[in-house]
Amino acid sequence: MAYKDFGVVNTRDMFARAMAGGYAVPAFNFYNLETIQAIIQAARTCHSPVILAVSESALAYMGDAMLMAMVSGLGLDGSEPVALHLDHGSSFDACRHAIDLGFSSVMIDASKLDINANIDLSRRVVDYAHAHDVTVEAELGVLSGIEDENTASAYGHYTNPADVVHFVHESGVDSLAIAIGTSHGAYKRQRDDEELRFDILRDIADALPNFPLVLHGASCIPSHLVDIINEYGGCIGGARGIAPDQLRRATSMNVCKINVDSDSRLAFTAAVRRTLGQKPDVFDPRQYLGAARDMITENCIDEIRHIMNSENKY
Ligand code: G3H
Ligand code: 13P
Ligand code: ZN
Repeated sequence: MAYKDFGVVNTRDMFARAMAGGYAVPAFNFYNLETIQAIIQAARTCHSPVILAVSESALAYMGDAMLMAMVSGLGLDGSEPVALHLDHGSSFDACRHAIDLGFSSVMIDASKLDINANIDLSRRVVDYAHAHDVTVEAELGVLSGIEDENTASAYGHYTNPADVVHFVHESGVDSLAIAIGTSHGAYKRQRDDEELRFDILRDIADALPNFPLVLHGASCIPSHLVDIINEYGGCIGGARGIAPDQLRRATSMNVCKINVDSDSRLAFTAAVRRTLGQKPDVFDPRQYLGAARDMITENCIDEIRHIMNSENKY
């Protein structure tokens, strides 16, 4: 089916507005009923554009039909800036499958290939996607963590600004994920004072004026969520994310999309652990899943307001 039948939109207009307004569109990952409900509730409460992100493993977890039924259940009609996005598509077939299902945006993640193979695969996806008015994100550089700098080239795994114009021109992609020190998961930094590579971001933004950049691995790992998890029997000591002020700074430098998954996972887990810890007699899943949904909504609202700066943008 065409994505327009589900009332979602592609990312072209949302990124143009975000670029002009100096804010970022949040891309929140979801994988079940409670997470998609929490994200849309936060976006609607804040009148924020939002990208509903689905990884390949999340798609497999939900199943094609159930996922698209949940998206239908949001009651979108194309008037709200809500995109349905394949996160980290690993192959042409995965992207084509998502587009055929009704996704309005896809990421082809060929960042582990050499640059020419990355361009070739990204171009193939772009040709198919653009024929369906679907937008495409690709990635250049590898997200391997701030501490991992022991590589031969001056840029290591970071995105080399000298490559970006050629890459974007040859691949035809609509947005570019870059590596400037963010990384996936809950253990991103060893020290509080570690900074993203704003020098690299500046050079990329200068080389690609008005072109939407994307940060993956951008969860903040809020300490109050980590504390709840640890207080109620969890063990995730040492979890540390990206400082909110650094993300805000990035939004003023052409970063139009910020990806958050781990923070929602923490919110979900914190609420479940606390509910069950405080009320040992509870065995109705709606009580702890409802608490989880509320906690994710609260965290998404907080990030829309204080990191993305995308509140009241439509
Ligand atoms: O960037 C990756 C996302 O956090 C999705 O991860 O494959 O475990 O759903 P996942
Ligand atoms: P986090 O693990 O920092 O939430 O990153 C999520 C992400 O990049 C999804 O693509
Ligand atoms: Zn990612």
